[in-house]
Amino acid sequence: MGLYPHCVLLLFASTLTVGFDFHHEPRPWGQSVFAKRSNAGQKAAGVVKRSLPAWLAAAAAADHKITRRSSGQGDCRAVEGHGKELAGNTHSNTFDDLSGSVSLAWVGDGTGVILALTTFQVPFFMLKFGQSKLYRSEDYGKTFQDVTSLINDTFIRSDYGIAIGPENSGKVILTAEVSGASGYRIFVSTDFGKRFTQIDLPFIPTTQISYNPDDSEVLVALSHNNELWLSKNVGKNWEKIHKMACLMKWGRKDTIFFTTSSSGSCNDRGMLDLMRTTDYGKTFKVVATKVYSFGLGGRFLFASVMTGKGTLRIIHVSVDQGDTWNIAQLPPVGHEQFYSILAANDDMVFMHVDEPGDTGFGTIYVSDDRGTVYSKSLERHLYTTTGGDTDFTNVTSLRGVFITSVLEQDESVKSVVSFDQGGEWIPLRKPADSICDATARDPDKCSLHIHAAYSTSMSQNIPMLPLCEPNAVGVILAHGSVGDAISVTKPDVYVSDDGGYTWIKALSGPHHYAILDSGGLLVAVEHKPNQPVNQIKFSTDEGQCWGVYNFTDNPIIFTGLASEPGAHSMNVSIWGYRETFVSEYWVSITIDFKDLLTRTCGDSDYVQWLAHSDDVSDPQDGCMLGYKEKFLRLRKDSVCSNGRDYQVSTQPTTCECTLDDFLCDFGYYRQENSSECVEQPDLQGKVLEFCLQGKEEQLQTQGYRKIPGDKCEGGKMPERKEINLSKRCVSDLVGPELLVDKRTSKPVFTVIAVMIVLVLSIAAGFVFVKKYVCGGRFLVHRYSVLQQQHVEENGADEMDEPLETNHTPNGKIEFHEDSDEDLLE
Ligand SMILES: *[C@@H]1O[C@H](CO)[C@@H](O)[C@H](O)[C@H]1NC(C)=O
Ligand SMILES: *[C@@H]1O[C@H](CO)[C@@H](O)[C@H](O)[C@H]1NC(C)=O
Ligand SMILES: *[C@@H]1O[C@H](CO)[C@@H](O)[C@H](O)[C@H]1NC(C)=O
Ligand SMILES: *[C@@H]1O[C@H](CO)[C@@H](O)[C@H](O)[C@H]1NC(C)=O
Ligand SMILES: *[C@@H]1O[C@H](CO)[C@@H](O)[C@H](O)[C@H]1NC(C)=O
Ligand SMILES: *[C@@H]1O[C@H](CO)[C@@H](O)[C@H](O)[C@H]1NC(C)=O
Repeated sequence: MGLYPHCVLLLFASTLTVGFDFHHEPRPWGQSVFAKRSNAGQKAAGVVKRSLPAWLAAAAAADHKITRRSSGQGDCRAVEGHGKELAGNTHSNTFDDLSGSVSLAWVGDGTGVILALTTFQVPFFMLKFGQSKLYRSEDYGKTFQDVTSLINDTFIRSDYGIAIGPENSGKVILTAEVSGASGYRIFVSTDFGKRFTQIDLPFIPTTQISYNPDDSEVLVALSHNNELWLSKNVGKNWEKIHKMACLMKWGRKDTIFFTTSSSGSCNDRGMLDLMRTTDYGKTFKVVATKVYSFGLGGRFLFASVMTGKGTLRIIHVSVDQGDTWNIAQLPPVGHEQFYSILAANDDMVFMHVDEPGDTGFGTIYVSDDRGTVYSKSLERHLYTTTGGDTDFTNVTSLRGVFITSVLEQDESVKSVVSFDQGGEWIPLRKPADSICDATARDPDKCSLHIHAAYSTSMSQNIPMLPLCEPNAVGVILAHGSVGDAISVTKPDVYVSDDGGYTWIKALSGPHHYAILDSGGLLVAVEHKPNQPVNQIKFSTDEGQCWGVYNFTDNPIIFTGLASEPGAHSMNVSIWGYRETFVSEYWVSITIDFKDLLTRTCGDSDYVQWLAHSDDVSDPQDGCMLGYKEKFLRLRKDSVCSNGRDYQVSTQPTTCECTLDDFLCDFGYYRQENSSECVEQPDLQGKVLEFCLQGKEEQLQTQGYRKIPGDKCEGGKMPERKEINLSKRCVSDLVGPELLVDKRTSKPVFTVIAVMIVLVLSIAAGFVFVKKYVCGGRFLVHRYSVLQQQHVEENGADEMDEPLETNHTPNGKIEFHEDSDEDLLE
């Protein structure tokens, strides 16, 4: 999975909600879920005090000659007094509906089609009864039609979400439980939700039905008894292609990977077989055995495989869909630990390896282009075992930039940024005009800390994750605080316009925000839980000046902002509800900013900007992974529209190579303060448990290897005699002999596995892919009191429906259709 939109509903008992983005690439569609009423009662925020460790402090003090792209204009007249223009293009909808939650999904790119599904769910013994209504808009949310009749008044389970087909296929699937009977039914549309066909399923699905990313006609689903079902005609006919599948993922070119167990139990972790079919179930091939779990990232297929030494397992990696495997040079982990693919593309992968024990941190490794040799990138990387929260964020608005958090020895949390794809991590520069908060030891020296998934799970005060979009070059919006460590007591909104090098404080206090018109317009609504709001703020200069517009005379209880994914739109919807004496009803207010940005931007509105530039006198200035990029960016004082068809224009030029364009190959390492790779003394003359492509291949190395994705040319190339490592090579790969071997050892192992499952209820421990990119659009709000009572009063029925709700020790309840992708249980 991980290739499709998931509608992930999260419910936090008393804190707030986070959305995870499971997408491989920013997709032209997305989903949000809003629910009425949030419970106040905020967790006290831990303010921790500590100075920076030496390496961080040194980096923070480093004097870069960075200036902001353009300094403040001083006057903000451009955004003042636009009430009249905007009022002419504000469209309000009220929904005659008592439902507790509404799920939104955009169907297609640039179609303006939105489906809004409201559900009202009452738990009654082991069953759930409810009512759903479906609304559809064709004009970006300005007007909605009630199309509930299309789904025959059937109750749609909101936890399966709205499954939107890949690309612009216009396919929509809603999964319904047939009340009274025990069957399941899907409603399928192939025309952007205009018409739906009803199909009864011959099985009970446990996950959202998933589309083949390369062919949206083909669907796959797992049934409650672990059968693998496939349909080649968008759900009309289904065939059972395998009787036993634990975890299923789509690979490339119509390939399906899944784990299966010969014992019939998916709890048999470590004894699973990884299977592959490339012909929709006509033939199957076992591509790995003794598998604990598997994951896909970029062109890499990963499997965690038992080593045969106790309960330790290790990562095997394949770049040919499982035909051949190499052992990844990563530390083995035990049952209580886990591996996580933080981010991956066709060049490389960021892998998190959990520390032994329940420490809440681990180490980030970055891979080479083969996925086998790893360099240590960041130690003490925050990643909670229980909640599965990490702040790791791919800043998609500037190449090579990543932000995450480290957990210090004193348990304080600090943000760090890497501008070179994980090569070096440094604290974020403090905004020029900001004052260090109480966490700072030295009132003049501190850094900016960014609140991402970890903070949002700790505090209700942070309603959104960092936000950035590939077409809004350099722009990042995020909640943050300025001090020695993260403090969630007083988060403000900070904006960077250069990919995280410099920041300004844009808004005081927590806000919901969205990027519109490819960064030409930012909008924000203040986060005031349970208080009615009537104002939206907007900025046309990347957050320096903000105008205010009263979008209604009758304030609403705000639940979230919704705009078309991809940030090309100029329409934004404000969702919320109003309360009357007798009832509550949903309201959406859509504002089209076209009357604010009336002029289309011309050539004179754009200026050239060199990304990653920090010293114009250096010929290597702006070089990142071997090339520099000049972008045409909108001038801050231009009030004009980029338009729907705006494309980022860039002129890349290659740089000369330096030693920093190489990573150290297997058996080599860098000494402190040196770029040179030297042979690791502890490996000299030893037998190596490392081979590439099995036993045959010669392993030649000069000790250097180009960093994946690096495009440098000429310059200083390392000259070194090749040494032949293959002499010292023993293979420990998945061989055919292991296929036979496993049957004998199974019974003993099953007992161990079951015991471990029972004892270590907090254990996570498998490979899973989470794509962390900036983005808040999958944010979920689901604060219905009814729902909470359900969870608290009927805690028992969760045992029967393991995929639906998961208690985590911090009192957070998560709804999700694909628990295998999450670090939970
Ligand atoms: C609604 O239900 C009726 C009776 O079960 C069925 O004949 C009809 O096709 C359904 N309509 C839709 C749109 O699914
Ligand atoms: C980070 O995001 C960018 C933009 O979407 C993408 O091109 C890149 O491959 C991502 N990097 C990783 C390591 O996933
Ligand atoms: C906008 O609403 C605020 C209250 O939220 C009010 O104080 C202000 O006067 C209003 N402004 C206009 C122009 O109506
Ligand atoms: C805003 O919505 C209108 C339809 O109401 C649509 O025609 C227009 O293209 C949208 N604007 C953008 C920039 O998407
Ligand atoms: C590396 O450089 C830092 C600062 O320049 C210095 O304090 C440290 O001692 C150096 N380490 C080594 C091993 O030379
Ligand atoms: C490297 O060593 C292996 C095993 O001893 C040998 O088969 C191979 O020919 C050697 N390659 C070179 C280039 O010397």
